Amino acid sequence: MSKILKIGQISDIHIGNGEELVQGIDVCANFRNALNSDSMKNLDLLVLSGDLAENAEAGAYEYVASLFKDYKSPWCVIPGNHDNLDLMKNYFDLSGKVSGDRCFYRYDLKGRSIFFLDSACGNVSKEELDWLKAETAKVKGEVILFMHHPPCFCGHRFMDLRFHLENMVEVQEVLGGINNLTHIYAGHYHHQFEVNMGRQIVHVAPATQFQIDPNMPYFNLQSAAPGWQVINWGENFVETEVYFE
Ligand SMILES: [Fe+2]
Repeated sequence: MSKILKIGQISDIHIGNGEELVQGIDVCANFRNALNSDSMKNLDLLVLSGDLAENAEAGAYEYVASLFKDYKSPWCVIPGNHDNLDLMKNYFDLSGKVSGDRCFYRYDLKGRSIFFLDSACGNVSKEELDWLKAETAKVKGEVILFMHHPPCFCGHRFMDLRFHLENMVEVQEVLGGINNLTHIYAGHYHHQFEVNMGRQIVHVAPATQFQIDPNMPYFNLQSAAPGWQVINWGENFVETEVYFE
């Protein structure tokens, strides 16, 4: 198991109805630029970590699905707070990945296990947390986790104030008890962060839609340049690189 797994993460795409501009930004072009960038070549896995749509538009999912028709690598998706899971099921194969109204699952790839949680409604359910605890305990080596909301405050004045994960304390307690989990990947904040949470690191991906100024307590657009991240997961290390266009 000496191979290095290369995983790309794209977050907060916020596509509207098809190829229309969203708040004056060509969000489809931003998404394509991330997807097709040199840094995202030869991925073992691509993860879309929520908010594919601006407002749960079917046209957004249709557009994303159309780009993945000939996509060469496996890819995984979880919903964000702007998404509608029932609609997403019509465009993406989520069989075996949905329980009740939540999309959470384990994805095994080349001898490693990658976990996904659903925080689209603003929290992580007890069912998900119980499952995560039990399922990660079955894995011998290190695992990594993706979720839409960061499970901690990040020092983003606007997002921390208004849109943080609701049951953060409960979630942190469970995550902190998972000994083979060190690296947690999130999005949602429209800004790049690396936050230490005890012995764990939360890597918050920038958005492809736009970045939000973290220093203002109100919404302030920082940049319309898309960002994404690439994870290189070796036998004894996990390296995360952030890219901006
Ligand atoms: Fe979000």
